[in-house]
Amino acid sequence: MILLTGATGYIGSHTWLALDAAAMPVVGIDDFSNSSPEVLRRLAALGADVSRFAQVDVTDRAALAEVFERWPIEAVVHFAAKKAVGESVARPLLYYANNVGGTIALAETMRAHGCRRIVFSSTATVYGQPRSLPVREDAALEPSSPYASTKLMSENILRDVERSDPAWRIALLRYFNPVGAHPSGTIGEDPRGTPNNLMPFVAQVAVGKRARLQVFGSDYETADGSGVRDYLHVQDLAEGHVAALKHLLGGGDSLTLNLGTGQGVSVLELVRAFERASGRPVPYEIAPRRPGDVAAYYADPALAERLLGWKARLGLDAMCADSWRWQAANPDGYAGS
Ligand code: UFG
Repeated sequence: MILLTGATGYIGSHTWLALDAAAMPVVGIDDFSNSSPEVLRRLAALGADVSRFAQVDVTDRAALAEVFERWPIEAVVHFAAKKAVGESVARPLLYYANNVGGTIALAETMRAHGCRRIVFSSTATVYGQPRSLPVREDAALEPSSPYASTKLMSENILRDVERSDPAWRIALLRYFNPVGAHPSGTIGEDPRGTPNNLMPFVAQVAVGKRARLQVFGSDYETADGSGVRDYLHVQDLAEGHVAALKHLLGGGDSLTLNLGTGQGVSVLELVRAFERASGRPVPYEIAPRRPGDVAAYYADPALAERLLGWKARLGLDAMCADSWRWQAANPDGYAGS
């Protein structure tokens, strides 16, 4: 069985479905600190087996041990973490305690139970300001926020664990910008409060919950002056996890991979694509640059294709159409049900 931590979160829930479809039985844990039990009902309605779930905080060693005693876990996908860059600047200790502490508690529990396969949810922000584009996995690592530092520390901890016991196999997956939702429109990203990220904000403007988008910066050195990112459909991202698990369970070596499309898309391009997909206007105003933002970054995803045979299949129109289907059907997210 595969243990998913953060199983009811945005990426966790989509990965649960992908694993279920690949006939890989899932054990899910989540503390619901940034997700809802409603996700389990939605996953079940989509046909997923959600019979193995426990409400567990990933820093709680005793509760983790119970999970490993109750179910035979062959491998772990570790999503559970706090992920708001701005909050991490304001509350660094919370981020180090939860994100680094969670990785340590989990790895200790895995070691105690003889489980040595882990896929780790990392982020492209470990690269910081990229020196050249597209960003390859061997680019300099210069995390520019406590959040990014917690992810890089977790990567390094897991690498050191493997050095200490070469029987471990770890896959470090550095995501670019995950967006979109399951095509059913029944699960998706449900940020609490004002969305920090572009796509959920745009979706809330289109559905009428917010008056207008602020485009943070129009004077970057990009084609239209707005920031450029590598948006990646969450369904493709979920498949990336399935591929990484199959690789590790099939005897493959440890790896560190970018998961992205390799395509840079500007804020204004995304807004236009969303308007087309939704048929709704997305009013916006130009605002100052957001502190800490970089002008452009996008992945070189070639290594993931070479080592896993994985590549992103869904384009910007599908990302916007699926985000819109989720937003339109669930204007208040899971709380509305
Ligand atoms: N943007 C706006 N207006 C908004 C929100 C965002 O113009 O209201 C712009 C940003 O300036 C940036 C782009 O949209 O140019 C994307 O911003 P996001 O906040 O959606 O994404 P980031 O690239 O800043 O960072 C995200 C996550 C991080 C993660 C990182 C890389 O916030 O957690 O992707 O994986 F680490």
